[in-house]
Amino acid sequence: MAEEAQNLEKKRIPMIQVKNLYKIYRVGDTKVHALDGVDFTIYKGEFCAIVGPSGSGKSTLLNMLAGLEKPTKGEIVIDRVHIEHMTENQLVGFRRERVGFIFQSYNLLKTLNAVENVALPLSFRGVPKKKRNAVAKKYLKLVGLEKQQDHMANAMSGGQQQRVGIARALAVNPKIIFADEPTGNLDSKTTMDILRLMQKIVREQNQTLIMVTHDNYLASFADRQFHIVDGKITKIEELHHGEYGAKQEEDR
Ligand SMILES: Nc1ncnc2c1ncn2[C@@H]1O[C@H](COP(=O)(O)OP(=O)(O)OP(=O)(O)O)[C@@H](O)[C@H]1O
Ligand SMILES: [Mg+2]
Repeated sequence: MAEEAQNLEKKRIPMIQVKNLYKIYRVGDTKVHALDGVDFTIYKGEFCAIVGPSGSGKSTLLNMLAGLEKPTKGEIVIDRVHIEHMTENQLVGFRRERVGFIFQSYNLLKTLNAVENVALPLSFRGVPKKKRNAVAKKYLKLVGLEKQQDHMANAMSGGQQQRVGIARALAVNPKIIFADEPTGNLDSKTTMDILRLMQKIVREQNQTLIMVTHDNYLASFADRQFHIVDGKITKIEELHHGEYGAKQEEDR
């Protein structure tokens, strides 16, 4: 290995380490190996895409990394802390402090307006109202919802709600952002706008982004793609492209 490459390797800080990870669901008499011996490391500042067919274990993996579900076996080290043995209370704290989620179903509180929804996780962290509303407005503006900031969530379109969900995840400035099909309900232009925006914010704040997607084009924006089939990582692909885009973009 060239000296330069070695130096680069040394600077990489592990953010997520997964060792020999299994998740086995029991359904009646049968066992489903949703994750079947998974190993990898994700580094600080990386944008990783998890890709694979329906039922391959993508959401299971993401939920496990985010501390939403417990593994059957194996280790998960996030930011040097083992989370696999944490109690539910410890996991609540872990999620609150370190991670942001963007779900496919945006999980907004329908009777709160956009600002209140985005500000909610900040209130759990004890940020005073004036400050958290100001932060919420800043992120709503970033996702292009400045004009809708006072709208109730249930009076917004699917795509708008999804953008509120993205603003909510980013507003707490988490070290890691987990996104499960974050743009599944958006048209292709909005999808690209949102993806570029997420990528920009994550880079600027040196956050780590893990995104599950079915969309190969979206996945082509990642630094690395993790291919998962039947609960196993079959390939980890490194992509080389410019600062804010996929290398394939010029070809489209
Ligand atoms: N709570 C559960 N109980 C039993 N089996 C489950 C449970 N959750 C997931 N599974 C099974 O585990 C496997 C992986 O599911 P998972 O949701 O992780 O797939 P996925 O890759 O996210 O699929 P999709 O692209 O359709 O969202 C599937 O076979 C699924 O049926
Ligand atoms: Mg899924």
